[in-house]
Amino acid sequence: MSINTVSTTSFPGQRPGTSGLRKKVSVFQQAHYLENFVQSVFDTLGDCAGKTLVLGGDGRFHNRAAVQTILRMAAAHGFAKVLVGQGGILSTPAVSCVIRKHGALGGIVLSASHNPGGPDGDFGIKYNIANGGPAPESVTEAIYQRTEAITQYRISDAADIDLQKAGATRIEAMDVEVIDSVADYAELMQKLFDFDAIRKLIAGGFRLCFDGMHAVSGPYAKAILEGQLGAPAGSVINAVPLEDFGGHHPDPNPVNAAQLIAIMAADDAPDFGAASDGDGDRNMILGRKFDVTPSDSLAVLAAHATLAPGYRAGLKGIARSMPTSQAADRVAQALGIPAFETPTGWKFFGNLLDAGKATLCGEESYGTGSDHIREKDGLWAVLFWLNLLAATGKSVEALVSEHWARFGRNYYSRHDYEGVDTHAANELMASLRIKLATMAGQDLGHYVVDFADDFSYTDPVDGSVAQQQGVRIVMTNGSRIVFRLSGTGTEGATLRVYLERYEADPEFHHLPTQQALYPLILIAEQVAGIADWTGRAHPTVTT
Ligand code: G6P
Ligand code: ZN
Repeated sequence: MSINTVSTTSFPGQRPGTSGLRKKVSVFQQAHYLENFVQSVFDTLGDCAGKTLVLGGDGRFHNRAAVQTILRMAAAHGFAKVLVGQGGILSTPAVSCVIRKHGALGGIVLSASHNPGGPDGDFGIKYNIANGGPAPESVTEAIYQRTEAITQYRISDAADIDLQKAGATRIEAMDVEVIDSVADYAELMQKLFDFDAIRKLIAGGFRLCFDGMHAVSGPYAKAILEGQLGAPAGSVINAVPLEDFGGHHPDPNPVNAAQLIAIMAADDAPDFGAASDGDGDRNMILGRKFDVTPSDSLAVLAAHATLAPGYRAGLKGIARSMPTSQAADRVAQALGIPAFETPTGWKFFGNLLDAGKATLCGEESYGTGSDHIREKDGLWAVLFWLNLLAATGKSVEALVSEHWARFGRNYYSRHDYEGVDTHAANELMASLRIKLATMAGQDLGHYVVDFADDFSYTDPVDGSVAQQQGVRIVMTNGSRIVFRLSGTGTEGATLRVYLERYEADPEFHHLPTQQALYPLILIAEQVAGIADWTGRAHPTVTT
């Protein structure tokens, strides 16, 4: 074994987006491409002598090859130890959990989350820091600057290690430990939730269906839901991670999780349905013939949090991303705790969690989590819901309907226009920004504009400022339209239009969502000229 220094030249565009560097697999397969990025991460970290790194990914195509390369580079950089998930597998929440439990310096997550996998799909890489969360912008920007200047990287010529076999081995002077991908994570879940109560619920005939979508959460769900909680074999469907996710799009929304939606819509549907995404950090919650929006899910969990052992002491605060509905704010107000509104991107919750200002966090993009780790956590949300269902004896629909009756309903939908021409999307946003100054007080038919702005966020902990985080048009009754461009796509631009209407009167709590939002949908088109700019009369995805 020896360590070699390899000359390289920089690749343009290695700037991490909302959640790491995501590109087509073919881009990552170029000689030196992954190596340049990894060396830039290591250079940014500096001396790693005596330090531990956690490494794993969602099992998508190129995962194993990338794991072997990164192990060889970590050894060359002088890490003392790498904890790598068996088979190269670790869900994003599991990486966060393992970093924290083992006091690691940080971790590398190999995932493009919900983006399609396979040789023609996407690949991604993300660095997480010692608190278990995604690196803040100061770090990702430093990594990017380094990728622009890189001239060489260092790598051991050691042979591939056997990722299937749990246990310890060595590359150069570095210890490599192949760990059980599920164990640390499952242990943490047992501390947070009442497994006995959930076991009893299931033993009493309560039926559930969890869709692993052939992505990373299958093995976790099988071990916990079927193995530890006694759900009958087959309760977890599409449980085996596949390199191309079985050709499906591992994003748990009503469009992509069609199989689960059909199961939950049948007359003999299970009591509870859920799905997670490629890397296991998202969640979708369903009742029998009933969908729960992610924004409502956050609000319901917050309202009943003390029913779960890990949250008995109550919540310190609730944080949501700006485009997420304001349902959770009403719960925070009722509980007398602070509500925080952050830009899109889980990394913005990190400081609030570290500072003990917030306990629960959530995003409209099917992300929910808490201070137990520093990533959003799909299976955690599922277990939280099961804990509430067991503790209350109520159905999913009853819990949500009662929540609306108490707090009012925030009708909510997101309309995505995917694969739009990047220039046109930027022009649409620019023309909206020009209109903002004159919008306040405008009468738009059903609604009068209270204020309109481009959301900017000052982090209450470190004072850092994030600007241009989404154009919002807020009506005098709290209803809103938000426009922003996705930071996670890999092809063209994706315009997201977020629509929210607040309805206090229970008599109007059971309208079809798109119908309830129709006047706002018309206003969004009228104000932004979506069809003109994008050439699209309809969104590609509606959640
Ligand atoms: C990832 C991030 C989330 C974010 C979501 C959508 O899942 O972890 O924090 O909400 O992507 O981001 P986008 O920029 O595509 O709307
Ligand atoms: Zn994800």
